[in-house]
Amino acid sequence: MPSPTAPSNLQRPASPAGQDPSPVTTPLASLIRRRIRAEGPITVAQYMALAIAHPEHGYYVTRDPLGREGDFVTAPEISQMYGEVLGLWAALHWQAIGAPDPVLLVELGPGRGTLMADALRAARAMPGFRAAARVHLVETSPVLRAAQRAKLAGIDATWHDALETVPEGPPLLVIANEFFDCMPIRQFQRAPQGWREILVDAEPEGAGFRYVLSPRPDPAVMLLPEAVRDGADVPIGAIAEISPAAILQATAIAKRIAASGGAALVIDYGYSGADWAGRPPLGSIQSLRAHAATDPLVEPGSADVTVQVDFHALAVAAREAGAATYGPLTQRDLLRRLGIERRAEQLAQANPPHAGTIAAALDRLIVGETMALLFKALAIARPGDPVPPAFQASGRESA
Ligand SMILES: C[S@@+](CC[C@H](N)C(=O)[O-])C[C@H]1O[C@@H](n2cnc3c(N)ncnc32)[C@H](O)[C@@H]1O
Repeated sequence: MPSPTAPSNLQRPASPAGQDPSPVTTPLASLIRRRIRAEGPITVAQYMALAIAHPEHGYYVTRDPLGREGDFVTAPEISQMYGEVLGLWAALHWQAIGAPDPVLLVELGPGRGTLMADALRAARAMPGFRAAARVHLVETSPVLRAAQRAKLAGIDATWHDALETVPEGPPLLVIANEFFDCMPIRQFQRAPQGWREILVDAEPEGAGFRYVLSPRPDPAVMLLPEAVRDGADVPIGAIAEISPAAILQATAIAKRIAASGGAALVIDYGYSGADWAGRPPLGSIQSLRAHAATDPLVEPGSADVTVQVDFHALAVAAREAGAATYGPLTQRDLLRRLGIERRAEQLAQANPPHAGTIAAALDRLIVGETMALLFKALAIARPGDPVPPAFQASGRESA
């Protein structure tokens, strides 16, 4: 590969105060450096996939990162109310499509199993749903699979490495909460000579990594929406992202739903729309360790690496695969329409000493800016089926 040139305008998160900025070698960093020395710079997607999913040293392979004592907190870990209202979403859609038996209840990336446990408990309120539902969990992390088995003890569930092995035939209800933000992205920077891919190279001196620009154009740029690729409002130095892995996942989900019926609910942080406006102008890759931002290129495998989800790309992929899409809605609208405020009142009345904690959790889910507004929900359903719960007012194909 010809020698790449340094990108002109890449913003990298500063090292948090007190953190030693000099890179520490991890076993995964050594492996990646050896690969780069042998084959040349790798794509951001290849780097991200190794950092989070390398079979021996990947971040999710080696630890349970969730919770206060981990690196980040997700909505199901904030409050039981979250999983409960999503369980209600699944049960209501099941009823609306004629209460099929069996129905597959599939969760992608179930974390500690908390969402599924809360959803199944709440969905008992819908007569017949629990007996009809077959639970399938798609999870690649052995550590998190063990946590899910413990949380779901006594529940008949089947684990899978990928959606492909979930049995075909019955309708399926799919929930994916903070799953798509783990899907690796390729990044492109608008340079004076056109879009060029950002690659990860080894620092010539020392043990660190750096971003460089590929000297050649790459046809994958055609996956960007035209308004981004050719947009007059997209400045030189802007960074745009595509996630082939996320598009493949959305396509697989949508094909299943179009063929067998059911619906999927994708919730994540991200942006929508085909235009440049609203996209993260310098890319969205971020890394968290112990709840603080850190540099994704430092100590790969030891910190989470995530990206903002491109809901427009997911919706387009799902529609091209034959499904209908609805939304995205903000997480606030989704949860309020599913009755989370009523559920909070019930819980507070039943547990007066915990009323303050319940109110604080509700605020975090539907009032605080990040969870309530940056987080969005997209529904995928079979064309002609009833609109999934909470999406009735949102209109079709708006993403
Ligand atoms: C950010 S965590 C979210 C966990 C959970 N949904 C929650 O909200 O608490 C991402 C989850 O997706 C899983 N995961 C990441 N990449 C995956 C892949 N390619 N296939 C299956 N699971 C994956 C992780 O192991 C983890 O369970």
